[in-house]
Amino acid sequence: MANSILKGKRGIITGALDENSIAWKVALRAHEEGATFVLSNAPIAMRMGEINKLAEQTNSKIIPADATNVEDLNKLFTEGMDHLGGKFDFVLHSIGMSVNIRKNIPYPELNYDYVSKGFDVSALSFHKMLATAWKLDAMNDWGSVVALSYIAAQKAYPFYTDMADFKAMLESIARTFGYHYGKRNKVRVNTISQSPTKTTAGSGIKGFNEFYDFANLQSPLGNASAEDCANYCIAMFSDMTRMVTMQNLFHDGGYSFTGVSMEQLEAMK
Ligand SMILES: NC(=O)c1ccc[n+]([C@@H]2O[C@H](COP(=O)([O-])OP(=O)(O)OC[C@H]3O[C@@H](n4cnc5c(N)ncnc54)[C@H](O)[C@@H]3O)[C@@H](O)[C@H]2O)c1
Repeated sequence: MANSILKGKRGIITGALDENSIAWKVALRAHEEGATFVLSNAPIAMRMGEINKLAEQTNSKIIPADATNVEDLNKLFTEGMDHLGGKFDFVLHSIGMSVNIRKNIPYPELNYDYVSKGFDVSALSFHKMLATAWKLDAMNDWGSVVALSYIAAQKAYPFYTDMADFKAMLESIARTFGYHYGKRNKVRVNTISQSPTKTTAGSGIKGFNEFYDFANLQSPLGNASAEDCANYCIAMFSDMTRMVTMQNLFHDGGYSFTGVSMEQLEAMK
């Protein structure tokens, strides 16, 4: 399905951990669509070396960066521009982590050191990436920046604990930075609110499999897959969505606007 809609565009893709990662699929599709990009992930996440396969497949350079570390981000954007030969047209933020979820700590009992860490990794890192790009003037006019979010930013999902708060902040950063970047460079900033997806981050959540099935029953189109999400990201990076900015875009097969499905009622009998 390649149409070269990203031909000539340069980008940064963060968060590809293994072949299940949403960012991994985005990288494969961006490559198919003619983009050139650098890949990045936290140095610790690269120990498994999986990302090297993706780099080979997409002919891209890997620049390690802890997204909470501004020095690392400076290096990522500077070296990325040097390597690709110009400013960026798109950036994907595909980063999330909650120690409270990892340790199975329920929301009323959150450990605040873990909350601070989670905010930094999952939400502030987005501001830090945007601020780094802003300071270095690293984005071409009409560039597109996308971060991945989840509907727990709007509705209560008890098992998603503090990640819900991180996503609410992430979406707020997209709106407010989107305003400033739009004014200065016509750069677009959006979040895509994705269906539950079977990845390392997703499957780390307690009860994920049951919830995946529940969401699938509720969505008229079924859950959106990681591949579908990658296609949506490509559309958002392309020139076909030039006037979309500061939005949280639901990509969930209709889940968010369905109160209840007949299949869910059937399952209650
Ligand atoms: N899987 C789902 O159900 C789902 C649903 C909606 C949104 N999302 C979001 O999609 C994004 C990607 O997650 P995924 O599901 O592909 O899982 P994933 O585990 O494959 O990706 C998460 C990535 O975050 C990276 N990361 C963690 N800490 C980092 C740091 N300090 N610096 C740089 N990178 C760091 C990890 O190394 C990993 O590559 C996340 O923001 C996640 O919250 C996922």
